[in-house]
Amino acid sequence: MILVCGGAGYIGSHTVFELIEDGKEVIVVDNLETGHKKAISNKAKFYNGDIRDRKFLEKVFKENKIDSVIHFAANSLVGESMENPLKYYDNNVYGTQILLETMNRHNVKKIVFSSTAAVYGEPKSIPIMETDKTFPTNPYGETKLTMEKMFKWADSAYGIKYISLRYFNVAGAHITEKIGEDHNPETHLIPIILQVALDKREKIFIFGDDYNTSDGTCIRDYIHVTDLAHAHMLALEYLNKANKSNIFNLGNGEGFSVKEIIEAARKVTGHPIKSEIGERRVGDPEKLVASSEKAKRELKWKPKYIDIESIIESAWNWHKNSPDGFKG
Ligand code: UFG
Repeated sequence: MILVCGGAGYIGSHTVFELIEDGKEVIVVDNLETGHKKAISNKAKFYNGDIRDRKFLEKVFKENKIDSVIHFAANSLVGESMENPLKYYDNNVYGTQILLETMNRHNVKKIVFSSTAAVYGEPKSIPIMETDKTFPTNPYGETKLTMEKMFKWADSAYGIKYISLRYFNVAGAHITEKIGEDHNPETHLIPIILQVALDKREKIFIFGDDYNTSDGTCIRDYIHVTDLAHAHMLALEYLNKANKSNIFNLGNGEGFSVKEIIEAARKVTGHPIKSEIGERRVGDPEKLVASSEKAKRELKWKPKYIDIESIIESAWNWHKNSPDGFKG
């Protein structure tokens, strides 16, 4: 059985869906602080609770024969982490500590976990390689890097093997349109643009056009959530076969500026999507583009959604059909 912590969240729920499709038995643990009950496949066994609650987690491990864990349960907003860093240390770092302790007690030795491009901070060169220096510029990235280090030492002491997946900018929705991205408040670029296309917002503010890029706006590497979900399954297979810890970047290897994303969304939606230049957002790196060659080589990962319009279109299909997200 595979335990998915944070399986009601955006990336977690898409991964649960793929695991179930693949015939796996899945247990979801989520405290529903940011996740949605409706996003959890009804074929998964669901426990509503918090990974920081030692007794609760102990019960989950006692009641199920868990052989591996996929860990998404974390807070993940850069801005919020700057204002409330200790919330991030508590949920992300302390939560992972309890999870690792419980895994060790129950002899569960395999874990795949969500890391982030934010561990690199402002990169020195593009594309970013896994071997590049990590220098997070916000508590979110710092707590994810701390989690990676906890895993490294837990491997060396207890033999818990881990795969850390460093995601770049995740977007899109499941092809069935049953699940997709629903954050409250929404802070991410593509869903905000699509809210303008749905007339739920008047315009999108572009956070700065004075960066040292071709059109002055920030560049990011966008990857489809289903491609990301597949990478988690391949990472589990890798652990089962190679029984070795490792770290992989996951992106498409191509950068798009904020203006290019807005333009692509205009094409996909046929909506004029009004925009206005605003202030820079504190902590935004200028350019983040991944090298995912290692994941392609070692995990045999092959992203399917490689053009930006198909990623935006997939997000658009979900937002059009579920304008109020999971509340609808
Ligand atoms: N942006 C705007 N206007 C908006 C929202 C975003 O111009 O209303 C810009 C941002 O400034 C940034 C780009 O769009 O340049 C993408 O912003 P997102 O908020 O969608 O994504 P981020 O790149 O900030 O964040 C992502 C992940 C984080 C991760 C981070 C690593 O969502 O979890 O990459 O830096 F930490």
